[in-house]
Amino acid sequence: MLHEKLIRDIEQVVGPAGLITDAERMQSYLSDWRNAYSGKAAMVVRPASTEEVAAVVRLCHQAAVAVVPQGGNTGLCGGSIPDQSGAQVVLSLTRMNAIRAVDTGNETITVEAGVILQNLQEAAAEVGRLFPLSLGAEGSCTVGGILATNAGGTAVLRYGNMRDLTLGLEVVLPDGQIWNGLRGLRKDNTGYDLKHLFIGAEGTLGIITAAVLKLYPAPRSTTTAWVALPSTEAAIELIALMRGQCGDRLTGFEMMSRQSVEFVVNHVAGCNDLFAQVYPWYVLIEVSDTLADAGLAQMLETALADAFEREIVLDAVIASNETQVAGLWAIREGISEAQNHEGPSLKHDISVPVSSIPAFIEAADQRLLEVFPGVRIVAYGHVGDGNLHYNISKPVGSEDAPFKAQAEAIMQVIYDATLQFSGSISAEHGLGQSKREAAVRYKDPLELQLMQAIKTTLDPAGLMNPGKVL
Ligand code: FAD
Ligand code: MLT
Ligand code: ZN
Repeated sequence: MLHEKLIRDIEQVVGPAGLITDAERMQSYLSDWRNAYSGKAAMVVRPASTEEVAAVVRLCHQAAVAVVPQGGNTGLCGGSIPDQSGAQVVLSLTRMNAIRAVDTGNETITVEAGVILQNLQEAAAEVGRLFPLSLGAEGSCTVGGILATNAGGTAVLRYGNMRDLTLGLEVVLPDGQIWNGLRGLRKDNTGYDLKHLFIGAEGTLGIITAAVLKLYPAPRSTTTAWVALPSTEAAIELIALMRGQCGDRLTGFEMMSRQSVEFVVNHVAGCNDLFAQVYPWYVLIEVSDTLADAGLAQMLETALADAFEREIVLDAVIASNETQVAGLWAIREGISEAQNHEGPSLKHDISVPVSSIPAFIEAADQRLLEVFPGVRIVAYGHVGDGNLHYNISKPVGSEDAPFKAQAEAIMQVIYDATLQFSGSISAEHGLGQSKREAAVRYKDPLELQLMQAIKTTLDPAGLMNPGKVL
């Protein structure tokens, strides 16, 4: 009964185009990209403006109904999926997809939350600028989702993550008030910087409806290389060498284990091994410059020759055209998809200090293989950020069920090793529903207490994405 009235009231606000109650049409909003999480909802609401979002949230607040914000639904820890009660409202921002303003003088772009990351990148390119955030899901993930998860990706080592790329936000608070913090200021010391509360909050403190984001000059030249390494220690030496010789021109440094590359070569069409020989580790290196004739290929060759001499590089190839560049990135970006072909995967997106990566991998590998012989370790990631995707696939030939039953125990081994190296259990995907309990075990109790105090202050009724993060 309550929902029937709420549905009628919400339809008054968003019209028939903004409301889905039909079970079949709701389906794609109720499970995630990997089908790892699924839930039920009373309705899916798709408002077309900030005012509509505010009115819908106000109605839900009055009716004491929980709201689950959703963007492209590409998140990897179940943050955008409602619970099983069927009582929650999924609020999809995908109709709010306008580029509101581009200010090239201020090097900023103001966009709505439903803008797809790739469309944002293209809008920046149209005015000769770069919006640098880049990740495998960029064709589907939205500005609201990448802000709410403080997404990272492959260009963080040069440009930072979403938190670093954001100057202002517009947010609908849990009671329906609109906070207009759409300031394009690089300096503003008038007290607490509230936007940072909502960035990375995974929709638990309010609904982001728009943002002012930073733009950068578009690079006019880019050079990309694929490099084979003997060890993870070599990767850490190589990144230091590259930074020393290329400075800020180093825009990508992605490390992959042989296992990761092997999955891609076996499962992703068009991806092949680049060297005749098999090596334990690979790195994709990208350097770029705003000058068209920056001599990047020469710079990269010199740095790699130096690395060969020091025996930290075993083999290397520099891409000589756009197709080859795309081919190198396809191997890197294909790992997630390739791993799905090997059965259920346990995803971990940990971070440790960059210098501790080799010791972390050694410790975690050793303990895991002792306790769970045969599991396949798919380690890869954004080494320059100390961020590893230390993913696990089941042993060859084993059933899914016994492997899934070990998920908690496997996670504990990995997170214990993370803690040993003063790391974080989530470097970029967030806690969502999957790591909420682990956070209680691995995060400082005082930090959790402060987070809870903020949550209670902003959302005393606990209606904003309950069951996520805290
Ligand atoms: P959703 O999945 O819809 O939501 C994610 C979270 O944000 C949920 O908690 C949701 O409630 C909340 N949310 C969504 N919109 C709003 C809003 N407007 N206001 C408030 N809360 C909101 N992440 C990285 O950081 N780096 C990577 O390299 C990376 N690579 C990926 C590669 C693949 C193939 C995939 C599938 C994912 C990858 N991700 C990566 C995960 C990443 O978190 C998401 O792709 C992206 O950040 C989520 O955007 P989305 O619009 O799909 O959000
Ligand atoms: C990536 O960097 O490819 C993703 O963040 C990792 C993943 O899909 O596990
Ligand atoms: Zn990643």
